Amino acid sequence: MADELSQRLVDVINATYGSHTGHRAVHAKGVLCSGTFTATGSASALSRAPHFAGGPVRAHVRFSNGSGVPTIPDGTRDARGMAVKFYLPGGKTTDIVALSLPVFFTRTPEDLLAFNEARRPDPATGQPDIEKVGAFLAEHPETVPAVTAAISHPAPASYAGITYHSIHAFGFVAADDSVRYGRYHLVPEGGDETITEEEAAAKPPDYLREELDARLQRGPAAFHLEAQLAADGDPLDDPTAEWPPEREVVGLGRLEITALAFDREQGDDILVFDPTRVPDGIILTDDKILLARPGAYSVSVARRTRS
Ligand code: HEM
Repeated sequence: MADELSQRLVDVINATYGSHTGHRAVHAKGVLCSGTFTATGSASALSRAPHFAGGPVRAHVRFSNGSGVPTIPDGTRDARGMAVKFYLPGGKTTDIVALSLPVFFTRTPEDLLAFNEARRPDPATGQPDIEKVGAFLAEHPETVPAVTAAISHPAPASYAGITYHSIHAFGFVAADDSVRYGRYHLVPEGGDETITEEEAAAKPPDYLREELDARLQRGPAAFHLEAQLAADGDPLDDPTAEWPPEREVVGLGRLEITALAFDREQGDDILVFDPTRVPDGIILTDDKILLARPGAYSVSVARRTRS
């Protein structure tokens, strides 16, 4: 039985987007791909995690729109997700679950509940109550950067033309047990590819999937996995606070996406990406949002798989 907080986190999401059996509570619409990750020497020096050892590692990647509505047109303004599952030796896996936003909305799950209540669309107008949202932001200035990023972020031309961020920090444990903290960024090899909101709105409803399919037929799409390392004093457990851009960045490897994938999420196969599923060589922080995610994801899984 999931804890009450996890249930409430998903209840408030379901109240916004509806409940759609067979679909994730959020990031309901997505496209699954297969690929290969190859780590750099800098990655193996930073962390003894098995996928950073250097050999090619099989991966699945799921790109998604943030909304919980499975039929949402791709041109709708939204945050985008990129979830990566690395298949490790011995049948284990580890995941990176990232967003197109550089920061998250709140520091705690309790504040997220209050924020989602405040911005829930009024059933009469279909729009959020600006006064309620304004009152929340006045009390929670730390929420403003994520809201600003969400509103101002240009529409993507491609899922493979977006920079994605882990937002949370993770500890990288080296062979000698030394630890450095960093945040992941997944940077598209060809740079960000954007279009105007008007162009996005005029596109077919599934243009992001169609574009990716056509792109992968021509050849692979690649991302560089990077770690932005914390300096002394950078907050490790606050997903609302960006670190200064001049922080050292270490290239961890190249993720090559080769094709749309149809070998998972068929029949009874349940695919879950969980950012707290980390192997030896990576450790978690006390970030309250990070630690709330697996519980909420389990509730979403239970609800999306019930018949
Ligand atoms: C307490 C805060 C959060 C809550 C309650 C929450 C909730 C959820 C839920 C319920 C799902 C669906 C899970 C499933 O059915 O498998 C989901 C998926 C997802 N979330 Fe979160 N989330 C939170 C924070 C974040 C953050 C900070 C990020 C990015 C750094 C993020 C990125 C994603 C992505 C990319 C997916 C889609 C994964 C996939 O493709 O399977 N979420 N989230």
